[in-house]
Amino acid sequence: MTAAHRCANRSADAGVSLFRNSGAIDQNCGIGAAVHVAIVGYGTIAKMHERIIRGMGAHISVVDPAPQIVPYENAPPIWPAIAEVPGSIRDSVDIWLICTPTQHHLATLREVLAHSPQARVFLEKPACSSWEIPELEILLSRYPQAKITLNDQYLHSRCVPFLASLCRKETTGLPDSIEVSFTKDRRSDMARGRFVDNDYGVLGYEWVHMLSVLSGVIPPEAMTNYLTEAPEASLFETAHADDGSLSAVQEFSRIGSTALSMYSSFFQDRSGRGRPSMLSKHWHPYEESVGRHRCISLTYGDKRFSAEFDPVTSVGRLRLPRNKHRVLVERGSSVVLDVVVFDSPLENSIRKSFGLLLGSQPVVPWMDPVKRIATLSQYLRGGYQSRSATLAGTDNSIHPTSILPASQ
Ligand SMILES: NC(=O)c1ccc[n+]([C@@H]2O[C@H](COP(=O)([O-])OP(=O)(O)OC[C@H]3O[C@@H](n4cnc5c(N)ncnc54)[C@H](O)[C@@H]3O)[C@@H](O)[C@H]2O)c1
Repeated sequence: MTAAHRCANRSADAGVSLFRNSGAIDQNCGIGAAVHVAIVGYGTIAKMHERIIRGMGAHISVVDPAPQIVPYENAPPIWPAIAEVPGSIRDSVDIWLICTPTQHHLATLREVLAHSPQARVFLEKPACSSWEIPELEILLSRYPQAKITLNDQYLHSRCVPFLASLCRKETTGLPDSIEVSFTKDRRSDMARGRFVDNDYGVLGYEWVHMLSVLSGVIPPEAMTNYLTEAPEASLFETAHADDGSLSAVQEFSRIGSTALSMYSSFFQDRSGRGRPSMLSKHWHPYEESVGRHRCISLTYGDKRFSAEFDPVTSVGRLRLPRNKHRVLVERGSSVVLDVVVFDSPLENSIRKSFGLLLGSQPVVPWMDPVKRIATLSQYLRGGYQSRSATLAGTDNSIHPTSILPASQ
């Protein structure tokens, strides 16, 4: 019995065809020392995966034509291309982990499947470039024996179901408003050569995560309707970087009676969150950019439920330790509940996905989010009416535009 089979036996009941909103996390999928994971694209996110997967006891190989790595003891073997990995090693791979820049995802997946038609593949988000989605779907249909999961890690956050359960205690109805805001100042990353998304722009970084978080707090049918509705149903404000790329998007929409605000920026945060008034003993000095926030908040009358995800930073250059998230319930100006939740959505996602990939159940990647960002980025590139506007808090190097529904 191979390691993969042993793990499959353990994780078979973790298999659901689509893990969106499942809430189940298979924390017991120890994958065993003999499981062989090949990481293709050994950059920033790959190294985060590697730390977790090593901790699960896997054996790792790497493919990257330009790996940025200082040699260290027990470093994984690295090949410059999949075709150059010796056949015996390629054939022993249990799971392929694709962490190349998004524009290389489809080509990499195609190559993996050409070598291993039954491959088990964990694919970083977004699944592929916007124009490649139909090709990806055709490719998946051509390899029915293969299994592919997407790394939508916020689907596996424990913090979101916790927040949703607090809201459900309040009422079974929909909230008056939902605000999701994920920002990160990526200028230093870009300057040091980290991958830049010239296709989706800002939507290619955090928007899929934002959709995953949103899917955890609204009913599945409402989520599907929102994801598949035309962009004309929303109002957008955008900002562009000097090179013309989409650097910030503010979407205003409605989900039934709920007002929805979605905001993301890769330059700077404008959520205006200051240092939290509580929890001072948990906060650590933080020397890096604080231009990063990931949060959701829901209002029901005068009650507000919010979660601020790691990195929980403040303008006072303080932050909570890694994988600590803050959940807050307020009524008017009073704090009803203020707790820190420990959770690693990435580790949850890896464990869950590996369980599914090595298990016996079929897996269907959830494609609606990538289709949504493809539709939005295409829409926001043109075909709309625009007028000058100011995205409050943007800096001078970006050029804001407000995008109105075509009918206005
Ligand atoms: N799930 C998340 O939270 C998360 C976070 C960051 C990045 N990502 C996704 O991961 C992917 C990589 O992003 P990153 O920030 O790690 O990029 P990065 O620039 O840090 O690393 C990319 C690596 O891929 C290598 N590479 C390029 N083309 C390749 C090819 N054809 N074959 C093999 N290797 C190749 C590069 O040499 C580089 O080392 C992107 O799709 C991104 O959207 C997801």
